[in-house]
This record gives sequence, structure tokens and C-alpha cells, in this order.
Amino acid sequence: MNIVILAAGMGKRMQSALPKVLHPLAGKSLLGHVIDTARTLTPSGLCVIYGHGGEAVPTAFAGDGLTFAKQEPQLGTGHAVMQALPYLDDAVPTLILYGDVPLTRTASLQRLVDSAGSDKLGILTITMDDPTGYGRIVREDGKIVRIVEQKDASAGEKAIREINTGIIVAPTAKLRQWLATLSNNNAQGEYYLTDIIARAVADGVEVVSAQPDDVAETLGVNSKVQLAELERLHQRRVAHALLEQGVTLLDPARLDVRGSLVCGRDVSIDVNCVFEGTVTLEDGVSIGANCVIKNARIGKQAQIKPFSHIDDASVGAASQIGPYARLRPGTILGEDVHIGNFVEVKNSNIAAHSKANHLAYVGDADIGSKVNVGAGVITCNYDGANKFRTVIEDEVFIGSDTQLVAPVRVGKGATIGAGTTLTKDAPADQLTLSRAKQMSLPGWQRPVNIKK
Ligand code: UD1
Ligand code: MG
Repeated sequence: MNIVILAAGMGKRMQSALPKVLHPLAGKSLLGHVIDTARTLTPSGLCVIYGHGGEAVPTAFAGDGLTFAKQEPQLGTGHAVMQALPYLDDAVPTLILYGDVPLTRTASLQRLVDSAGSDKLGILTITMDDPTGYGRIVREDGKIVRIVEQKDASAGEKAIREINTGIIVAPTAKLRQWLATLSNNNAQGEYYLTDIIARAVADGVEVVSAQPDDVAETLGVNSKVQLAELERLHQRRVAHALLEQGVTLLDPARLDVRGSLVCGRDVSIDVNCVFEGTVTLEDGVSIGANCVIKNARIGKQAQIKPFSHIDDASVGAASQIGPYARLRPGTILGEDVHIGNFVEVKNSNIAAHSKANHLAYVGDADIGSKVNVGAGVITCNYDGANKFRTVIEDEVFIGSDTQLVAPVRVGKGATIGAGTTLTKDAPADQLTLSRAKQMSLPGWQRPVNIKK
């Protein structure tokens, strides 16, 4: 099939310079959600109608293999679909979606497309308690005969509770003919896509309908209030799917997944955690409260304690991270590594059973196994212009408050005395330290206030 996504609308009520369809829901633009859902239907062509916001919309999806057609000015939904006509293949039907309706499920769209086949017109409809604002589905003897917009509807028609969600599929050659006959002689002075229904009926084309599983699938975003509501609906869906799958969520209402979160068995997630990008939590992982984890893999049985921030990092099995730890991009931790409070690690490899438990900065370092990094240790990786690596071999002990001025290497089994500023390589198995000699002055007296 062809898929056309209408995304030219202006979104005035968003009160934003950003085009409405580029506002994020769960970390991905509204239009991005619609495009991803559309792709699950493997369309032969995917055309986005844009307009408001200049080239921001095509720019946001450059290189994604989509066709963009500009609608300028915006004269209604029918006029919007007309802009896609040069790109449509008449041999297959055309499905029309809205770029600001992000939560439609593939199954509902598939049901609609299946019921319309190649020669019928299909409308995704739903019955609402309060249908105000929507186009009403007018039926005669049970058959759909037309759609009437709220502003054009008679009192009797306004009482109809079955509404047009806006999602329509039509045989393409017919769609072309019907669109050519539209007029804007209506309350809004627009070319209504919905007028094609009456055209189809006049043409003897059967009009069918399908219904989505849930009303959330049809909700559009026109304001920040609605955006926030849909965000919550989406997050609730994600949380429920995780619970069904056996993940323990201490409170499903206090979880935000902005991307894909893959969990093994017996994973537990405490409150107020945010997961972004692609995150994998292997079997038995526990995540403490208030963690932000992005593009990361957390190995089996690892514990991430509260208030930790992990970005583009891999944590080995049975490791313990935090509380208040920060793992920055390029961090790769082996098995049973301990990274404690106020420790920052960046672009570093730390092998099995090593520990940095308190107040340290480990940047651009390769640390072997069974290494102990003391409190307050810092890798001085940056000279203001260049970055250099620090290499710490297996079983090294780095005393507290040591500065390792890179490039520098500490040999296997070495001990570095507390307070050392290491500027040259330290040999294996020896104690290396740089320290001013300690002295005490007998008879020294504290100064007293001489103004008295
Ligand atoms: C439309 C339907 C209505 C339906 C409702 C569902 C028509 C005439 N009416 O009404 O039956 O119940 O959606 O939400 O189709 N757009 C463009 N170019 C335009 C106009 C709109 O791209 O010139 C896009 C908008 O960005 C939006 C979608 O089309 O994504 C719907 O437009 P909107 O103005 O919200 O239509 P409604 O009046 O709500
Ligand atoms: Mg609307």
C-alpha cells in the first residue's frame, strides 16, 4: 500500500517555535512514532505532507528514505492528500494517517486495511461519549453514507456518537478522481478529505469501518496538555507490558521509558527511573530509585544503587554501582566491579573485581583486575589541549588523593602512596610515592591577637 501522513498543520496551541509533529513523546517525535508504525505495515511508498515550520520536518528525517510533499498554503485535509498524488502507486490502496496521532497500533491499522481490501473505502471509527469537535459518521440502514464535520452538522447529526478518527484507506485511482471533485464550499472554507465518502457512495464503492482496540490510539495532540496526557498513557502501556513480562516495578506510575528497555528475568526497578535509547537489563539486575540510564547494558545480578547516571556504558555481571555514581560514554566495566559514590568514569575499561568506591575521576584509563582506586584519586587526562591515557595494571593499589598525570603507566602489583602526584611510570610490585617529608616543630606557638 501507499501511506500518506498528514503533518502540515500549524499546531498553534503548542505555543512553540518547533513544528507540532516534532515535539517528543517518550523521547521520539510524534511524527517519528507515526512513521515507525507506518513502517511496520511495509508500505511500498511513504509520503509525509509538511508545511508549517519550513524545512524543519524534512530535515529531521533526512536520509530516512521518505518522500516529502509540501502543502503551502494549508487548505484542508483533502488538499493535503492532493499534494501526495504524484507519489502514489495506483495499483495499491492508500492509507492516510495523521502525524499528530502517535499511539495508533499496527493491529488496528491492519484490521482497517484488511476490511477495505483493494476496492473498498475504509474508515477507522470509534464511538465516543462526547463526540464534540469530530467529524460524525452518518449511516443509513447501517451503511456509512457520508461524514459531516462538527461545524457543518445539524443538531440531529451532532447527536451521532460514532466519529471519524481521521484514518482512512481508499483505492488509489478512485481517490485521485474523488479528490479532483472536492470543493471548499463549507463552514471552514477547506477542502475536506471526508467529502470523499459521499463520492465513493455515489460511485457505488462500498464504505466499511474498523475500530481500534482503545481510544488512546485515536487521540491527537493539539496542546501541551494533550501531549502530557498521551505521554502518561504511553508510559502506562510500557509499564504494564514490563509487569506482564515479570519485571518488578515498585510503582508503574513512576517509570519513564524513552526508547527500548529489554529486561531479563527477575529484574527490579525502583521509583523515578528514566531509561533512554536502548537499554538492556540482564537477569537479576536491580535498579535503585532515581537513576537515569541511557544506551547501556547492565550485566546479570548487577546492582545500580539510587541516583546513578549511566550513559553509553556497559556494566559487568554482579557489579555494584552507586549510589550517586556517574558512568559516561565509553565506560566498560568487567565482572564484579564496584563504583561508589561520587565516582565519575569516562571512556575507560575497568576489569573484573576492581573497585573505585569514593570520590574519584577515572577518565581515558585502562584499569586491570583487582585494582583498588582510593578515595579522591584523579586521572589527569587533559593538558588543556590533548587527552592521554592512564594504564593501571592488575592488582595495583592506588592510595587516596593520588593524581595520575597521563600519559602514565602503573605496573602490575604496584602500590602508590596516598597523596602522590604521579608524573612518571611506576614500576611493578614497588611502592612509589611523591610526598613532602612530614615535620613537627617543637616549641612552636600559635599566633595571638596583637591589637589587645
Ligand atoms: C479532521 C477530520 C475529522 C476528524 C478529525 C479527527 C477532515 C475534514 N476532518 O478534523 O472528520 O474527526 O480530523 O481528529 O478531515 N492537516 C494538513 N493540512 C491541512 C489541514 C490539516 O496537513 O491543510 C493535517 C493536520 O496537521 C492534522 C490532520 O491533518 O495532522 C488533521 O487536521 P485537523 O485540522 O486537526 O482536522 P480536524 O478539523 O480536527
Ligand atoms: Mg484535529
